[in-house]
Amino acid sequence: MTSELNIVILAAGKGKRMHSSMPKVLHTLAGKALLAHVLDVANRLTPNQICIVIGHGGESVRNVTSDTSLIWVMQEPQLGTGHAVLQAQPYLDREGLTLILYGDVPLVSLASLKKLIDATQNRVCGILTAIVDDPDGYGRIIRDENNGEVKNIVEDKDANTVQKAIHEINTGIMVIPNQYLHSWLPKLESNNAQQEYYLTDIVKMAVAQNVPVVSSPAMHSWEIMGVNSKVQLAELERIYQHNYAQKLLEKGALLRDPARIDVRGELICGADVEIDVNCVFEGTVILGDHVKVKANCLLKDVSVSEKTTILPFSHIEDAKIGANCRIGPYSRIRPETELIDNVHIGNFVEVKKSRIASGSKVNHLSYIGDTTIGENVNIGAGTITCNYDGAYKHQTIIEDNVFVGSDTQLVAPVTVAYGSTIGAGSTITKDTPKNELTLSRSKQVSISGWKRPSKS
Ligand code: UD1
Ligand code: CA
Repeated sequence: MTSELNIVILAAGKGKRMHSSMPKVLHTLAGKALLAHVLDVANRLTPNQICIVIGHGGESVRNVTSDTSLIWVMQEPQLGTGHAVLQAQPYLDREGLTLILYGDVPLVSLASLKKLIDATQNRVCGILTAIVDDPDGYGRIIRDENNGEVKNIVEDKDANTVQKAIHEINTGIMVIPNQYLHSWLPKLESNNAQQEYYLTDIVKMAVAQNVPVVSSPAMHSWEIMGVNSKVQLAELERIYQHNYAQKLLEKGALLRDPARIDVRGELICGADVEIDVNCVFEGTVILGDHVKVKANCLLKDVSVSEKTTILPFSHIEDAKIGANCRIGPYSRIRPETELIDNVHIGNFVEVKKSRIASGSKVNHLSYIGDTTIGENVNIGAGTITCNYDGAYKHQTIIEDNVFVGSDTQLVAPVTVAYGSTIGAGSTITKDTPKNELTLSRSKQVSISGWKRPSKS
């Protein structure tokens, strides 16, 4: 691999067919902007520099990354791919190679790019090509009839009927030695059907100068697919998810239906993980050995230790979940929550910014927020930690071996001491003593002879 690699990412195109006010390359695939996918693969080639060509209204595109080493250049107006690279020319090294990538071709693989770069041997031009069933719209690769060498690329709009019948196409991704690029770019002309400066015209210049142009086919057909519309974006999303699911299966995860899982980030699975249908994983999710995630769960930035089961319809975000826990069905676990081992969180329970220690259970219809719960605590149905006074949030502390009766309100700040029992239906506003029963409800009375009102 070359030590002097420059990368230019073309991202100035309007993307009219997206029918969106957002620049095309900011649309997301698997939860990440198209351009961010391209930047990821670009960075993995460890180039000297990456230059991104953006267009009118593209200032917002810069927010896609916080990487300050990137060079952003404006192309306004947009007069074609050759004109786009021309804007980046002042930033290109004199030596080495420049790799051209497209900001809207997000799935190109590191392997295909390395193969292409290797094929150029740091000296000649290289084009990433593909043989496609329907070459409509693509530039066609024109080869010498005698030796089969690439001698031109003809754009679809400029092609004659014979050329249009060629199925070998230019993916747009190419590698050009910088020494030539510097001399060829200013010589590009726009006397073609689209009145554009075509980068592809450098092939003719190379041939005229006896600089060989090698081709290297992309390893998979989906790598070269671009996004021009929401239809294509949806297609690529499915391809990405299919590929991700295949990788998970190959590594031993059991997916009940690989067509019904969405990973928008990274999913790391231990041994014998089982994932039922319609689960969405965002950010970084780590599932330990023997973890089961049942149907219709959403997990974002979560780690789950071994043998825990997440039951259907649970939503967990920014949380750490221990071993042998049982979460759900219908549980909501919000950010900054930590559950230690053997914890049960049941249906219609919301937990926020809380720590729940081993063996504790919150099984039904509760809100636990800004709370520390000790070990072996049982929280009865309908318990609410009243953590918010309208201005500030306050902490609730529930020590080990506490039993909280159903329909209790714990008005924070409050501590329920070790071994306390809270009678059902209580509103607890003061700290409780250890090992005692505390309750705050009036005694039950019966009024004999009382009559219900009735209409006369
Ligand atoms: C280009 C290639 C064609 C190839 C096809 C693959 C040229 C002349 N043609 O055609 O051979 O088969 O891609 O999809 O290179 N862009 C800019 N500034 C511009 C024009 C385009 O940044 O002025 C960017 C676009 O945002 C896009 C990429 O360059 O990322 C390709 O542009 P597009 O208009 O899609 O090129 P095609 O005409 O499809
Ligand atoms: Ca295109």
